[in-house]
Amino acid sequence: MTERAAKVKDVPLALVKGGRGEREAEETHELDEPVAASPAMRRVFELARKVADSTIPVLILGETGTGKEVVARFLHAKSPRRGRPFIAVNCAALPDALADSELFGHVRGAFTGADREHRGVFEQADGGTLLLDEIGDLPLPIQAKLLRTLDDGVVRRVGADRPTRVDARHVCATNRDLAADVTTGRFRADLFHRIRGVTIGVPPLRERPEDVEPLARRFLADASRERSRPPRLTAETIGWLRRQPWPGNVRELRQAVHRAVTVGGDVLDLPDFALDAEPIGPALLPALDEYLPGKTWAEVERDVLVAALRRHGSARDAASALGLSRSTVFRKIAAYGLRAGSADE
Ligand SMILES: Nc1ncnc2c1ncn2[C@@H]1O[C@H](COP(=O)(O)OP(=O)(O)OP(=O)(O)O)[C@@H](O)[C@H]1O
Ligand SMILES: [Mg+2]
Repeated sequence: MTERAAKVKDVPLALVKGGRGEREAEETHELDEPVAASPAMRRVFELARKVADSTIPVLILGETGTGKEVVARFLHAKSPRRGRPFIAVNCAALPDALADSELFGHVRGAFTGADREHRGVFEQADGGTLLLDEIGDLPLPIQAKLLRTLDDGVVRRVGADRPTRVDARHVCATNRDLAADVTTGRFRADLFHRIRGVTIGVPPLRERPEDVEPLARRFLADASRERSRPPRLTAETIGWLRRQPWPGNVRELRQAVHRAVTVGGDVLDLPDFALDAEPIGPALLPALDEYLPGKTWAEVERDVLVAALRRHGSARDAASALGLSRSTVFRKIAAYGLRAGSADE
């Protein structure tokens, strides 16, 4: 056995979210209902509620930080399994040498250093729900073994000569394009079809601005628990928060609120949030100086619009980044003779 495998007994709990570790790093709101003000998120949670009673495989797709784990926990909390464990395992954090033993367990003496038996996450989640997070990152040989477990409802611990029956409901999540991974051979087609009984897509935060304010208020309350009352948000700040692209989605918003609470006073204003934003400082001024002479306002506006369309890809996202309504952006696209929906002219 390899060196890495030999260390297996020391590692598991830290890798399994919901064991020790990780819990403190990222607070999840197990007691609070998740925020879902937008129609899109209402539909997500409605669907999760509908599938909660059955054991149909659920695949949750979405960009990083959109709340995939929140959806999985919600599903578990609404299911008949709610009194049993919810275990989340991050497949991307499993070194190849550990993945087998971590998922399926090992028997005593299975390899050097395996001086105790170890129950894998499937057994730990027995009777409950197992979230296989970042499923797209699982090594191919483990994908094959996983498929057998999902099909037969049994696990085979490393070194065991008999399988063990398990009853863990599995939910998979990923921010990867699994269909594309199937095409390139990174992900097994049979496993892909096996795990997507029902697919729940969690939209990025920039596509559901209605959620921004209630999420910000939730995080504000969380981040200022020690204070007698949470700081206030100005209307201008809320408007600005709604227009941000949030590439890190809800997690990034949470961080931003946390930081603003730390540096801000009783009223949180734009500068409390815009700390990291690139300042229009001296470096940019000469460039503007060279750029502007000879340009009419309409030409400058057109350039800004083209740049925003290039950067954000769609008229809708460009509109939200520029703080304009979609109809204004469409009108300008037409007026300047740009092709809608494309960054190029
Ligand atoms: N609807 C929501 N209501 C309340 N909090 C939320 C909601 N969605 C996400 N969060 C919070 O945002 C953070 C990120 O959520 P989560 O871990 O579920 O995202 P994820 O999609 O699993 O991210 P990753 O792709 O990085 O695994 C967590 O702190 C979570 O509590
Ligand atoms: Mg996650």
